[in-house]
Amino acid sequence: MKPVKHFLQFKDFSREELDYLFARTRWIKERFKSFQKYWPLEDRTLVMIFEKQSTRTRLSFEAGMHQLGGAAIYLNTRDSQLGRGEPVEDAAQVISRMCDAVMIRTFEQEIIERFARNSRVPVINGLTNEYHPCQILADIYTFIEHRGSIQGKTVAWIGDSNNVCNTWLQAATVFDFNVHVSTPPGYEVEPERAGIYNSNHYEEFTDPMDAVKNADLVTTDVWTSMGFEGESDARKRDFVDWEVDANMMQGAKPSALFMHCLPAHRGEEVSAAVIDGPQSVVWDEAENRLHTQKALLEYLVLGRVA
Ligand code: CP
Ligand code: NVA
Repeated sequence: MKPVKHFLQFKDFSREELDYLFARTRWIKERFKSFQKYWPLEDRTLVMIFEKQSTRTRLSFEAGMHQLGGAAIYLNTRDSQLGRGEPVEDAAQVISRMCDAVMIRTFEQEIIERFARNSRVPVINGLTNEYHPCQILADIYTFIEHRGSIQGKTVAWIGDSNNVCNTWLQAATVFDFNVHVSTPPGYEVEPERAGIYNSNHYEEFTDPMDAVKNADLVTTDVWTSMGFEGESDARKRDFVDWEVDANMMQGAKPSALFMHCLPAHRGEEVSAAVIDGPQSVVWDEAENRLHTQKALLEYLVLGRVA
């Protein structure tokens, strides 16, 4: 089987490939916004496998495939044989003979890696316990749209060192920016799990107010990620001082943006004043999931077209 290109974690792509993807994103987005048809994936099919819930990821991939002239098929664990113990390897063999790309949202990263090893077609990580690479693709594209290059900039991550945080840390090494991370004690970054091999691009702070100093972007996420609901009560207590509020935003640069991958909990990880305030770009960020993933699908299915 010839090697297939996958997007399983952010660092699977080089800086050069990501710059290409962002150039394609700009082109595809502009064309779409001016109602020009672009159907490079006519007759092609994306299979989407969800083992966890989703609004944005499902919608952006499904709408994106449709807009590129193709189709998307939704499978979930409950209604497919995946939920009845069919080996991931067998599922990958079968599913990848019937489609042109697969997007998976699941639990352990190991599951998606086993799937990819047995897949004839590109596999995209639509979120695992460890990573959420499609989210950070959209986030960095959104930052660039608003502020230009992210190289040398400072991103403050406030809250849980979860899948989204790990992906920011990987992106920092690829794009050469800095991440200031502040988590409650006991929730610090685990570099091996994050897939980073040195701390050249991130620094940890016990006080979130120190982490946001001089930040160009402040970002956070839910205190309890999907799959960790059993820890929810303890986390609500442990994270109470890690809410991004107006006071925290004032500690960052006046030009700082606020991002959140959504869904958000106002009054927990972010105050309503911040997420609904003038520095927040969360709706652009959500929309850009669509445009960046269309470029990703085009690249993985067809290779370079420009
Ligand atoms: N941000 C994100 O991935 O949202 P969904 O869980 O709704 O897909
Ligand atoms: N960290 C969150 C992101 C949701 C899009 C989770 O994994 O539930």
